[in-house]
Amino acid sequence: MNQMWHQATTQTGERPDRPLASCSSMSSVSVASVPFVSRPSVASAPSVSRVSVASVPSVSSPSVASAPSVSRVSVASVPSVSCPSVSRVSVASVPSVSCPSVSSAGEPHGGPDEAELAALGLWPEDVLDFSASTNPFGPPPGVREALAVCDITRYPDRRATRLRAALAAHESVSADCVLVGAGGAGLIWALAQAWLRPGDTAFVVGPTFGEYVAASRLMRATVVEWRGFWPVEVERHQAAASQREVARAIAAARPRLIWLCNPNNPTGAYLAAEEVTALLPAAPDALWVLDEAYRPFVVDPWPSTPLIEHGNVVLLRSLTKDCALPGIRLGYLLGPADVIARVATAQPPWSVSAPAIATGLAALHNYAAVRESLAALRAETAWLRAALLDRGWLVPPSATNFLLIRVGDAAAVRRCLLIEHHIQVRNCASFGLPDFIRIGVRTRRDNERLLAALEDFTLDPSPAR
Ligand SMILES: Cc1ncc(COP(=O)(O)O)c(C=O)c1O
Repeated sequence: MNQMWHQATTQTGERPDRPLASCSSMSSVSVASVPFVSRPSVASAPSVSRVSVASVPSVSSPSVASAPSVSRVSVASVPSVSCPSVSRVSVASVPSVSCPSVSSAGEPHGGPDEAELAALGLWPEDVLDFSASTNPFGPPPGVREALAVCDITRYPDRRATRLRAALAAHESVSADCVLVGAGGAGLIWALAQAWLRPGDTAFVVGPTFGEYVAASRLMRATVVEWRGFWPVEVERHQAAASQREVARAIAAARPRLIWLCNPNNPTGAYLAAEEVTALLPAAPDALWVLDEAYRPFVVDPWPSTPLIEHGNVVLLRSLTKDCALPGIRLGYLLGPADVIARVATAQPPWSVSAPAIATGLAALHNYAAVRESLAALRAETAWLRAALLDRGWLVPPSATNFLLIRVGDAAAVRRCLLIEHHIQVRNCASFGLPDFIRIGVRTRRDNERLLAALEDFTLDPSPAR
Protein backbone atom coordinates (compact mmCIF):
# COMPACT_ATOMS: atom_id res chain seq x y z
CA MET A 1 0.00 0.00 0.00
CA ASN A 2 2.72 2.41 0.88
CA GLN A 3 5.60 1.38 -1.27
CA MET A 4 5.82 4.58 -3.23
CA TRP A 5 7.24 6.53 -0.34
CA HIS A 6 10.15 4.31 0.16
CA GLN A 7 13.51 5.30 -1.17
CA ALA A 8 16.46 3.18 -2.02
CA THR A 9 18.29 4.43 1.04
CA THR A 10 15.97 2.43 3.24
CA GLN A 11 15.48 -0.48 0.97
CA THR A 12 15.08 -3.73 2.79
CA GLY A 13 13.46 -5.79 0.15
CA GLU A 14 14.18 -9.04 -1.52
CA ARG A 15 16.70 -9.15 -4.27
CA PRO A 16 16.27 -11.08 -7.42
CA ASP A 17 17.48 -14.60 -7.49
CA ARG A 18 18.14 -14.13 -11.17
CA PRO A 19 18.44 -10.41 -11.45
CA LEU A 20 19.77 -9.51 -14.82
CA ALA A 21 18.70 -10.89 -18.11
CA SER A 22 20.63 -11.48 -21.22
CA CYS A 23 19.10 -12.85 -24.33
CA SER A 24 20.98 -15.90 -25.46
CA SER A 25 20.82 -14.39 -28.90
CA MET A 26 21.99 -10.94 -28.03
CA SER A 27 25.50 -9.74 -28.46
CA SER A 28 24.58 -6.38 -27.06
CA VAL A 29 23.95 -6.72 -23.37
CA SER A 30 25.89 -4.54 -21.06
CA VAL A 31 24.47 -3.90 -17.66
CA ALA A 32 27.59 -3.20 -15.74
CA SER A 33 27.19 0.53 -15.98
CA VAL A 34 23.45 0.70 -15.42
CA PRO A 35 22.68 2.07 -11.97
CA PHE A 36 20.02 0.28 -9.98
CA VAL A 37 18.29 3.55 -9.34
CA SER A 38 19.11 5.85 -12.15
CA ARG A 39 19.25 9.55 -11.91
CA PRO A 40 16.10 10.72 -13.61
CA SER A 41 16.18 11.56 -17.23
CA VAL A 42 14.70 14.96 -16.64
CA ALA A 43 17.70 16.07 -14.63
CA SER A 44 19.33 17.77 -17.55
CA ALA A 45 16.30 19.84 -18.43
CA PRO A 46 16.98 23.35 -17.28
CA SER A 47 13.52 23.90 -15.90
CA VAL A 48 13.54 20.81 -13.74
CA SER A 49 14.97 20.86 -10.28
CA ARG A 50 14.97 17.81 -8.12
CA VAL A 51 14.86 17.02 -4.48
CA SER A 52 15.91 14.11 -2.39
CA VAL A 53 17.93 12.36 -5.01
CA ALA A 54 21.13 12.94 -3.14
CA SER A 55 20.05 10.35 -0.65
CA VAL A 56 19.39 7.72 -3.26
CA PRO A 57 22.46 5.60 -3.69
CA SER A 58 23.47 4.80 -7.19
CA VAL A 59 23.99 1.09 -6.93
CA SER A 60 25.59 -0.50 -9.90
CA SER A 61 24.07 -3.62 -11.27
CA PRO A 62 26.42 -6.51 -11.32
CA SER A 63 28.44 -7.20 -14.35
CA VAL A 64 27.41 -9.98 -16.65
CA ALA A 65 30.99 -10.42 -17.77
CA SER A 66 31.10 -13.88 -16.36
CA ALA A 67 28.18 -15.13 -18.43
CA PRO A 68 29.97 -17.28 -20.95
CA SER A 69 27.45 -17.27 -23.75
CA VAL A 70 27.10 -13.51 -23.98
CA SER A 71 29.49 -11.38 -25.91
CA ARG A 72 29.20 -7.83 -24.74
CA VAL A 73 28.90 -4.58 -26.60
CA SER A 74 27.72 -1.62 -24.65
CA VAL A 75 24.34 -0.58 -25.96
CA ALA A 76 24.54 2.53 -23.88
CA SER A 77 27.39 3.86 -25.95
CA VAL A 78 25.85 3.02 -29.31
CA PRO A 79 23.35 5.68 -30.27
CA SER A 80 21.93 4.02 -33.33
CA VAL A 81 21.32 0.42 -32.43
CA SER A 82 21.32 -1.93 -35.31
CA CYS A 83 19.19 -5.05 -35.24
CA PRO A 84 21.67 -7.46 -36.77
CA SER A 85 23.49 -7.32 -33.43
CA VAL A 86 20.90 -9.85 -32.34
CA SER A 87 22.88 -12.75 -33.62
CA ARG A 88 20.25 -15.47 -33.58
CA VAL A 89 17.89 -13.54 -35.81
CA SER A 90 18.27 -14.93 -39.27
CA VAL A 91 18.25 -12.53 -42.18
CA ALA A 92 15.58 -14.66 -43.77
CA SER A 93 13.06 -14.17 -40.99
CA VAL A 94 13.75 -10.56 -40.18
CA PRO A 95 14.27 -7.81 -42.71
CA SER A 96 17.88 -6.74 -42.72
CA VAL A 97 17.24 -3.18 -41.65
CA SER A 98 18.50 -1.09 -38.81
CA CYS A 99 16.23 -0.44 -35.89
CA PRO A 100 15.37 3.22 -35.52
CA SER A 101 17.77 4.65 -33.01
CA VAL A 102 16.71 4.29 -29.43
CA SER A 103 17.53 7.34 -27.38
CA SER A 104 19.04 6.73 -24.01
CA ALA A 105 15.79 8.00 -22.50
CA GLY A 106 13.86 5.25 -24.28
CA GLU A 107 10.39 5.50 -25.76
CA PRO A 108 8.12 7.96 -23.95
CA HIS A 109 5.06 5.69 -24.06
CA GLY A 110 3.85 2.19 -24.74
CA GLY A 111 1.69 1.24 -27.69
CA PRO A 112 2.73 0.70 -31.29
CA ASP A 113 5.13 3.01 -33.07
CA GLU A 114 4.31 2.47 -36.72
CA ALA A 115 7.61 3.88 -37.97
CA GLU A 116 9.62 1.59 -35.72
CA LEU A 117 7.54 -1.44 -36.70
CA ALA A 118 7.69 -0.61 -40.40
CA ALA A 119 11.46 -0.50 -40.18
CA LEU A 120 11.27 -4.07 -38.92
CA GLY A 121 8.81 -5.11 -41.61
CA LEU A 122 5.99 -5.39 -39.08
CA TRP A 123 2.47 -4.04 -38.79
CA PRO A 124 0.91 -3.19 -35.43
CA GLU A 125 -1.43 -6.19 -35.79
CA ASP A 126 1.60 -8.52 -36.05
CA VAL A 127 2.70 -7.53 -32.59
CA LEU A 128 1.51 -8.83 -29.26
CA ASP A 129 1.42 -5.66 -27.23
CA PHE A 130 2.35 -5.88 -23.57
CA SER A 131 3.56 -2.29 -23.56
CA ALA A 132 0.13 -0.66 -23.11
CA SER A 133 -1.65 -1.58 -19.91
CA THR A 134 -5.27 -1.83 -21.02
CA ASN A 135 -7.96 -4.38 -20.28
CA PRO A 136 -7.05 -7.38 -22.49
CA PHE A 137 -10.63 -8.62 -22.52
CA GLY A 138 -11.60 -5.73 -24.79
CA PRO A 139 -14.40 -3.18 -24.63
CA PRO A 140 -17.73 -4.12 -23.07
CA PRO A 141 -20.62 -5.33 -25.23
CA GLY A 142 -22.51 -2.61 -27.06
CA VAL A 143 -19.50 -0.39 -27.75
CA ARG A 144 -18.85 -1.49 -31.31
CA GLU A 145 -22.56 -1.35 -32.12
CA ALA A 146 -22.78 2.20 -30.75
CA LEU A 147 -19.81 3.19 -32.88
CA ALA A 148 -21.36 1.68 -35.98
CA VAL A 149 -24.50 3.80 -35.73
CA CYS A 150 -22.86 6.99 -34.47
CA ASP A 151 -23.76 10.01 -36.61
CA ILE A 152 -20.48 11.55 -37.66
CA THR A 153 -22.11 14.07 -40.01
CA ARG A 154 -22.98 16.39 -37.11
CA TYR A 155 -20.77 18.22 -34.66
CA PRO A 156 -20.76 16.57 -31.27
CA ASP A 157 -22.24 18.44 -28.33
CA ARG A 158 -19.60 20.95 -27.21
CA ARG A 159 -19.88 19.95 -23.56
CA ALA A 160 -20.58 16.24 -24.11
CA THR A 161 -23.65 16.87 -21.98
CA ARG A 162 -25.17 13.40 -22.04
CA LEU A 163 -21.87 11.69 -21.37
CA ARG A 164 -21.11 14.08 -18.52
CA ALA A 165 -24.48 13.29 -16.99
CA ALA A 166 -23.84 9.55 -17.35
CA LEU A 167 -20.40 9.90 -15.75
CA ALA A 168 -21.86 12.01 -12.95
CA ALA A 169 -24.38 9.24 -12.22
CA HIS A 170 -21.65 6.60 -12.47
CA GLU A 171 -19.49 8.48 -9.95
CA SER A 172 -22.29 9.87 -7.76
CA VAL A 173 -21.26 13.50 -8.22
CA SER A 174 -23.06 16.41 -9.84
CA ALA A 175 -22.58 17.02 -13.56
CA ASP A 176 -20.81 20.34 -13.07
CA CYS A 177 -18.10 18.44 -11.20
CA VAL A 178 -17.28 16.43 -14.36
CA LEU A 179 -15.18 17.41 -17.35
CA VAL A 180 -14.71 15.05 -20.28
CA GLY A 181 -11.59 15.23 -22.42
CA ALA A 182 -9.58 13.57 -25.14
CA GLY A 183 -8.10 10.90 -22.90
CA GLY A 184 -6.41 11.38 -19.58
CA ALA A 185 -3.48 12.82 -21.51
CA GLY A 186 -5.64 15.54 -23.06
CA LEU A 187 -6.86 16.51 -19.61
CA ILE A 188 -3.34 16.58 -18.18
CA TRP A 189 -2.40 19.12 -20.82
CA ALA A 190 -5.60 21.12 -20.23
CA LEU A 191 -4.89 21.15 -16.49
CA ALA A 192 -1.37 22.43 -17.00
CA GLN A 193 -2.57 25.04 -19.44
CA ALA A 194 -5.34 26.24 -17.14
CA TRP A 195 -3.27 26.27 -13.99
CA LEU A 196 0.36 26.99 -14.68
CA ARG A 197 2.11 30.16 -15.76
CA PRO A 198 5.82 30.65 -16.50
CA GLY A 199 7.76 30.65 -13.26
CA ASP A 200 5.18 28.63 -11.32
CA THR A 201 6.33 25.41 -9.73
CA ALA A 202 4.78 22.05 -10.49
CA PHE A 203 5.61 19.15 -8.18
CA VAL A 204 5.79 15.60 -9.47
CA VAL A 205 5.96 12.55 -7.24
CA GLY A 206 8.07 10.16 -9.27
CA PRO A 207 9.10 7.97 -10.90
CA THR A 208 5.85 8.34 -12.77
CA PHE A 209 3.94 9.01 -15.97
CA GLY A 210 5.94 11.39 -18.16
CA GLU A 211 3.15 13.68 -19.33
CA TYR A 212 3.08 15.62 -16.06
CA VAL A 213 6.58 16.92 -16.64
CA ALA A 214 5.99 17.43 -20.36
CA ALA A 215 2.79 19.44 -19.88
CA SER A 216 4.23 21.48 -17.00
CA ARG A 217 7.32 22.26 -19.00
CA LEU A 218 5.23 23.37 -21.94
CA MET A 219 3.80 26.04 -19.65
CA ARG A 220 7.39 26.94 -18.71
CA ALA A 221 6.80 25.99 -15.12
CA THR A 222 9.65 24.84 -12.94
CA VAL A 223 9.25 21.15 -12.25
CA VAL A 224 10.39 19.74 -8.95
CA GLU A 225 10.44 15.99 -9.01
CA TRP A 226 10.67 13.89 -5.88
CA ARG A 227 12.10 10.57 -6.83
CA GLY A 228 10.87 7.92 -4.53
CA PHE A 229 11.71 4.36 -5.10
CA TRP A 230 9.55 1.52 -4.10
CA PRO A 231 10.85 -1.42 -2.26
CA VAL A 232 9.86 -4.95 -2.65
CA GLU A 233 9.05 -5.07 1.04
CA VAL A 234 8.63 -1.97 3.16
CA GLU A 235 8.34 -1.56 6.85
CA ARG A 236 5.49 0.78 7.68
CA HIS A 237 7.59 3.06 9.87
CA GLN A 238 10.05 3.54 7.03
CA ALA A 239 7.23 4.40 4.68
CA ALA A 240 5.91 6.91 7.17
CA ALA A 241 9.35 8.51 7.36
CA SER A 242 9.48 8.75 3.58
CA GLN A 243 6.02 10.23 3.55
CA ARG A 244 7.12 12.95 5.97
CA GLU A 245 10.07 13.57 3.69
CA VAL A 246 7.92 14.03 0.60
CA ALA A 247 5.54 16.29 2.55
CA ARG A 248 8.49 18.45 3.58
CA ALA A 249 9.74 18.55 -0.01
CA ILE A 250 6.32 19.65 -1.25
CA ALA A 251 6.04 22.35 1.40
CA ALA A 252 9.54 23.61 0.55
CA ALA A 253 8.82 23.75 -3.19
CA ARG A 254 5.66 25.84 -2.70
CA PRO A 255 4.11 24.40 -5.86
CA ARG A 256 1.05 25.69 -7.60
CA LEU A 257 0.21 22.24 -8.95
CA ILE A 258 1.00 18.76 -7.66
CA TRP A 259 0.81 15.62 -9.79
CA LEU A 260 0.28 12.43 -7.85
CA CYS A 261 -0.41 9.20 -9.68
CA ASN A 262 -2.34 6.60 -7.66
CA PRO A 263 -1.97 3.75 -8.40
CA ASN A 264 1.35 4.85 -9.75
CA ASN A 265 2.59 4.13 -13.22
CA PRO A 266 5.03 2.37 -13.54
CA THR A 267 5.55 1.10 -9.98
CA GLY A 268 2.02 -0.15 -9.33
CA ALA A 269 2.16 1.31 -5.81
CA TYR A 270 -1.21 2.36 -4.39
CA LEU A 271 -1.34 4.88 -1.57
CA ALA A 272 -3.97 4.44 1.10
CA ALA A 273 -6.53 7.18 1.74
CA GLU A 274 -4.73 8.30 4.91
CA GLU A 275 -1.45 8.59 3.08
CA VAL A 276 -2.95 10.90 0.49
CA THR A 277 -4.93 13.03 2.92
CA ALA A 278 -1.90 13.36 5.20
CA LEU A 279 -0.05 15.05 2.37
CA LEU A 280 -2.63 17.69 1.51
CA PRO A 281 -1.71 20.17 4.30
CA ALA A 282 1.80 20.38 2.79
CA ALA A 283 0.40 22.60 0.05
CA PRO A 284 -3.05 23.83 1.05
CA ASP A 285 -3.20 26.44 -1.71
CA ALA A 286 -2.01 24.24 -4.54
CA LEU A 287 -4.14 22.26 -6.94
CA TRP A 288 -3.65 18.54 -6.32
CA VAL A 289 -4.17 16.27 -9.30
CA LEU A 290 -4.70 12.68 -8.28
CA ASP A 291 -4.33 10.61 -11.43
CA GLU A 292 -6.46 7.51 -10.98
CA ALA A 293 -6.28 6.13 -14.52
CA TYR A 294 -5.51 2.66 -13.12
CA ARG A 295 -7.83 2.75 -10.11
CA PRO A 296 -10.41 0.36 -11.62
CA PHE A 297 -7.82 -2.42 -11.61
CA VAL A 298 -7.21 -2.21 -7.85
CA VAL A 299 -8.87 -4.75 -5.62
CA ASP A 300 -11.18 -2.79 -3.37
CA PRO A 301 -9.98 0.78 -4.02
CA TRP A 302 -10.83 3.38 -1.39
CA PRO A 303 -13.48 5.98 -2.24
CA SER A 304 -11.61 9.07 -3.36
CA THR A 305 -14.44 11.24 -4.70
CA PRO A 306 -15.01 12.89 -1.26
CA LEU A 307 -11.55 14.43 -1.71
CA ILE A 308 -12.97 16.92 -4.19
CA GLU A 309 -14.77 18.56 -1.29
CA HIS A 310 -11.39 19.90 -0.16
CA GLY A 311 -11.80 22.42 -2.97
CA ASN A 312 -8.28 21.95 -4.34
CA VAL A 313 -8.25 18.28 -5.38
CA VAL A 314 -9.17 16.91 -8.78
CA LEU A 315 -9.35 13.25 -9.76
CA LEU A 316 -8.23 12.25 -13.21
CA ARG A 317 -9.82 9.14 -14.64
CA SER A 318 -9.85 7.50 -18.01
CA LEU A 319 -11.99 5.02 -19.91
CA THR A 320 -8.91 4.04 -21.90
CA LYS A 321 -7.58 1.40 -19.55
CA ASP A 322 -10.51 -0.35 -17.91
CA CYS A 323 -12.79 -0.22 -20.96
CA ALA A 324 -9.97 -1.01 -23.41
CA LEU A 325 -10.55 2.07 -25.55
CA PRO A 326 -7.11 3.62 -26.16
CA GLY A 327 -8.00 4.40 -29.76
CA ILE A 328 -11.05 6.42 -28.79
CA ARG A 329 -9.33 8.98 -26.54
CA LEU A 330 -11.70 9.43 -23.64
CA GLY A 331 -10.95 10.53 -20.10
CA TYR A 332 -12.60 12.63 -17.43
CA LEU A 333 -11.89 14.83 -14.51
CA LEU A 334 -13.85 15.00 -11.25
CA GLY A 335 -13.38 18.15 -9.22
CA PRO A 336 -14.88 21.20 -7.61
CA ALA A 337 -17.20 22.99 -10.06
CA ASP A 338 -15.08 26.16 -10.21
CA VAL A 339 -11.90 24.21 -10.98
CA ILE A 340 -13.71 22.14 -13.61
CA ALA A 341 -15.06 25.31 -15.27
CA ARG A 342 -11.59 26.78 -15.37
CA VAL A 343 -9.93 23.71 -16.85
CA ALA A 344 -12.70 23.56 -19.47
CA THR A 345 -11.55 26.94 -20.79
CA ALA A 346 -8.25 25.32 -21.82
CA GLN A 347 -9.94 22.72 -24.03
CA PRO A 348 -10.44 23.28 -27.73
CA PRO A 349 -14.07 23.17 -28.85
CA TRP A 350 -15.40 19.72 -29.69
CA SER A 351 -12.40 18.07 -28.09
CA VAL A 352 -14.52 14.99 -27.40
CA SER A 353 -15.63 13.49 -30.69
CA ALA A 354 -19.05 12.03 -31.50
CA PRO A 355 -17.61 8.48 -31.63
CA ALA A 356 -15.97 9.06 -28.24
CA ILE A 357 -19.25 10.24 -26.73
CA ALA A 358 -21.18 7.30 -28.21
CA THR A 359 -18.53 4.87 -27.03
CA GLY A 360 -18.42 6.30 -23.53
CA LEU A 361 -22.19 6.11 -23.14
CA ALA A 362 -22.27 2.49 -24.30
CA ALA A 363 -19.33 1.53 -22.07
CA LEU A 364 -20.94 3.06 -18.98
CA HIS A 365 -24.22 1.39 -19.82
CA ASN A 366 -22.49 -1.98 -19.77
CA TYR A 367 -19.97 -1.30 -17.03
CA ALA A 368 -21.03 -4.43 -15.15
CA ALA A 369 -19.29 -6.43 -17.88
CA VAL A 370 -16.13 -4.36 -17.36
CA ARG A 371 -16.22 -5.12 -13.64
CA GLU A 372 -16.45 -8.80 -14.38
CA SER A 373 -13.51 -8.75 -16.74
CA LEU A 374 -11.42 -6.76 -14.25
CA ALA A 375 -11.99 -9.41 -11.61
CA ALA A 376 -10.69 -12.03 -14.04
CA LEU A 377 -7.72 -9.82 -14.87
CA ARG A 378 -6.77 -9.46 -11.20
CA ALA A 379 -6.61 -13.22 -10.93
CA GLU A 380 -4.53 -13.39 -14.10
CA THR A 381 -2.15 -10.71 -12.76
CA ALA A 382 -1.57 -12.75 -9.61
CA TRP A 383 -0.99 -15.86 -11.71
CA LEU A 384 1.50 -14.15 -14.02
CA ARG A 385 3.45 -12.54 -11.21
CA ALA A 386 3.69 -15.88 -9.42
CA ALA A 387 4.87 -17.54 -12.65
CA LEU A 388 7.54 -14.87 -13.17
CA LEU A 389 8.75 -15.04 -9.57
CA ASP A 390 8.84 -18.79 -9.90
CA ARG A 391 11.20 -18.43 -12.82
CA GLY A 392 13.48 -16.20 -10.77
CA TRP A 393 12.56 -12.76 -12.08
CA LEU A 394 12.44 -9.77 -9.80
CA VAL A 395 8.84 -8.53 -10.02
CA PRO A 396 7.85 -5.93 -7.42
CA PRO A 397 4.30 -6.19 -6.12
CA SER A 398 1.75 -4.19 -8.06
CA ALA A 399 -1.74 -3.11 -7.03
CA THR A 400 -2.79 -2.82 -10.61
CA ASN A 401 -2.70 -4.55 -14.00
CA PHE A 402 0.92 -4.03 -14.95
CA LEU A 403 4.10 -5.52 -13.61
CA LEU A 404 7.68 -4.35 -13.60
CA ILE A 405 10.34 -6.93 -14.36
CA ARG A 406 14.00 -6.27 -13.70
CA VAL A 407 15.89 -7.41 -16.76
CA GLY A 408 19.18 -5.53 -16.66
CA ASP A 409 19.12 -3.77 -20.02
CA ALA A 410 15.52 -2.98 -20.80
CA ALA A 411 16.22 -1.43 -24.20
CA ALA A 412 18.04 -4.52 -25.43
CA VAL A 413 15.47 -6.92 -24.01
CA ARG A 414 12.62 -4.96 -25.53
CA ARG A 415 14.32 -4.96 -28.91
CA CYS A 416 15.06 -8.66 -28.75
CA LEU A 417 11.48 -9.56 -27.80
CA LEU A 418 10.12 -7.39 -30.59
CA ILE A 419 12.38 -8.74 -33.30
CA GLU A 420 12.42 -12.37 -32.35
CA HIS A 421 8.98 -12.86 -30.85
CA HIS A 422 6.96 -9.91 -32.14
CA ILE A 423 6.21 -9.07 -28.53
CA GLN A 424 6.33 -5.46 -27.43
CA VAL A 425 7.08 -4.53 -23.83
CA ARG A 426 7.65 -1.14 -22.26
CA ASN A 427 11.25 -0.17 -21.71
CA CYS A 428 11.20 1.85 -18.49
CA ALA A 429 14.24 4.00 -19.30
CA SER A 430 12.02 7.05 -19.77
CA PHE A 431 10.88 6.63 -16.17
CA GLY A 432 14.52 6.63 -15.09
CA LEU A 433 14.42 2.85 -14.60
CA PRO A 434 16.54 1.54 -17.48
CA ASP A 435 16.90 -1.93 -16.04
CA PHE A 436 13.16 -2.61 -15.89
CA ILE A 437 10.56 -3.49 -18.44
CA ARG A 438 6.85 -3.03 -17.73
CA ILE A 439 4.24 -5.43 -18.98
CA GLY A 440 0.48 -4.95 -19.05
CA VAL A 441 -1.03 -8.29 -18.07
CA ARG A 442 -2.96 -9.97 -20.88
CA THR A 443 -5.00 -13.15 -21.21
CA ARG A 444 -3.57 -16.57 -20.29
CA ARG A 445 -2.53 -17.57 -23.80
CA ASP A 446 -0.68 -14.31 -24.40
CA ASN A 447 0.90 -14.42 -20.97
CA GLU A 448 2.16 -17.92 -21.63
CA ARG A 449 3.65 -16.70 -24.88
CA LEU A 450 5.51 -13.99 -23.00
CA LEU A 451 6.76 -16.46 -20.40
CA ALA A 452 8.02 -18.72 -23.17
CA ALA A 453 9.76 -15.79 -24.90
CA LEU A 454 11.43 -14.78 -21.64
CA GLU A 455 12.94 -18.25 -21.47
CA ASP A 456 15.27 -17.02 -24.22
CA PHE A 457 16.99 -14.86 -21.68
CA THR A 458 19.52 -16.21 -19.35
CA LEU A 459 20.00 -14.44 -16.11
CA ASP A 460 23.21 -13.52 -14.45
CA PRO A 461 24.04 -16.40 -12.16
CA SER A 462 25.60 -14.05 -9.57
CA PRO A 463 22.66 -12.11 -8.16
CA ALA A 464 23.01 -8.59 -6.81
CA ARG A 465 23.10 -8.87 -3.07
C1 LIG B 1 -1.00 7.30 -15.22
C2 LIG B 1 -1.59 7.63 -16.54
N1 LIG B 1 -2.44 8.66 -16.63
C3 LIG B 1 -3.00 8.99 -17.78
C4 LIG B 1 -2.71 8.31 -18.93
C5 LIG B 1 -3.33 8.74 -20.20
O1 LIG B 1 -4.33 7.88 -20.58
P1 LIG B 1 -5.25 8.17 -21.82
O2 LIG B 1 -5.00 7.08 -22.79
O3 LIG B 1 -6.64 8.17 -21.27
O4 LIG B 1 -4.86 9.50 -22.38
C6 LIG B 1 -1.83 7.24 -18.89
C7 LIG B 1 -1.50 6.48 -20.12
O5 LIG B 1 -0.70 5.61 -20.15
C8 LIG B 1 -1.25 6.89 -17.67
O6 LIG B 1 -0.38 5.88 -17.57
